[in-house]
Amino acid sequence: MKKVTIEQNGTTETVGAHNAWIGYAGAAGTDLRSDTMTTPTASMLAAVQSCTLLDDVFMEDPTTMELEAHCAALAGKEAGLFVLSGTMGNQLAMRSLLVQPPYEVLTDHRSHIVKYEAGGVSSLTGAMLNTVVPKNGRYLTLEDIKAKIHLDDDVHTCPTRVIELENTLNGMIMPLEECKRISVFAREHAIKLHCDGARLWEAVASGAGSLTEFAACFDTVSLCFSKGLGAPVGSVLVGSKEVIKHARWVRKSIGGGLRQPGVVTAAARVGVDETFGKGPNGEGGLLKETHVLAKEIEKLWTDLGGKFAHPVETNMVWLDLDDAGCPAARITELGKEEGLKLAGNRLVIHYQIYQNRDYVMPRLERIFKKVFQEKGAAPNGAAAEKIGEASQYQSH
Ligand SMILES: Cc1ncc(COP(=O)(O)O)c(C=O)c1O
Repeated sequence: MKKVTIEQNGTTETVGAHNAWIGYAGAAGTDLRSDTMTTPTASMLAAVQSCTLLDDVFMEDPTTMELEAHCAALAGKEAGLFVLSGTMGNQLAMRSLLVQPPYEVLTDHRSHIVKYEAGGVSSLTGAMLNTVVPKNGRYLTLEDIKAKIHLDDDVHTCPTRVIELENTLNGMIMPLEECKRISVFAREHAIKLHCDGARLWEAVASGAGSLTEFAACFDTVSLCFSKGLGAPVGSVLVGSKEVIKHARWVRKSIGGGLRQPGVVTAAARVGVDETFGKGPNGEGGLLKETHVLAKEIEKLWTDLGGKFAHPVETNMVWLDLDDAGCPAARITELGKEEGLKLAGNRLVIHYQIYQNRDYVMPRLERIFKKVFQEKGAAPNGAAAEKIGEASQYQSH
């Protein structure tokens, strides 16, 4: 039998057969780079063992269809479509909601579809992107949108056909009331609304509104299983039967039709039931406690005099490392010395970090203290010239 060495929590263990299904005791328990680092659990493995293994291109797989129907019901929508990733969900939504050029998509200048989807909106739809800077620095308001939207039919104009809102964005919540205001306005002007809800679960867990209430504001919502919910693969796009039928078509055209996806949709269902919770308010789920831990981490940093790049509202803590005089690479290095995986100034507090908090918290505290001990100690060298905008993914 193949011997495998596992390093975790500062100890090294050699085991006969590699068993990766060890939850927070595995790599995820010390990885704060992203909630995508959560690893599937033993109960997911059990679900995979008893899933159905039928063809989903033929729409014959009960495990997959039940997951789609369950998510649609939680969101109060007619239909759902399992997709391989959050990016695929957003891109299928754009391709399905946009009909006839000229058209533009209006969105926050920091949104995932603008910054981190490899330019997919342009290549897959040909749409113009109208990127808006929110005045409050947190979320777009109706006033921000009204100031930049293109409603007229002047021949020179590229009309806004879709508004895309991300919730949460950088861990910050777009309040339900603002979603409702924007939704009323969009519907008055026959503009479609898509929500990149990769982490809408987090907004719901924070008590900002139910999944059904948020989703009612939008034509389509994409929800990720492989981030805070801890599933290995996938997202779901929910919306009307008509839009989802079209999205299924587009999904097929880009090679996203799946044969026996029960092996991943079964795990995704466990993520929804156990990590998010049983009902549209995340009843009985595990996300809320990660927010409480994020607040404790916020306090640790604040007590040392630290500031934040964004407010802590859900599961992300954005340290202001510039203010602390700490280069992103330095905190990543300090993390490594303490056995924690960090990626610059963003700490993502997922549920497996919460489960491993007794290990993580003292180490994080030592790292934070070192950052402030070093503040001002380094000689003032000439700042390196920065060319271009760095991606948040480039610091690791
Ligand atoms: C807000 C948001 N939307 C969409 C995505 C895309 O998800 P995926 O990596 O599954 O394509 C991410 C990924 O981190 C994200 O943070």
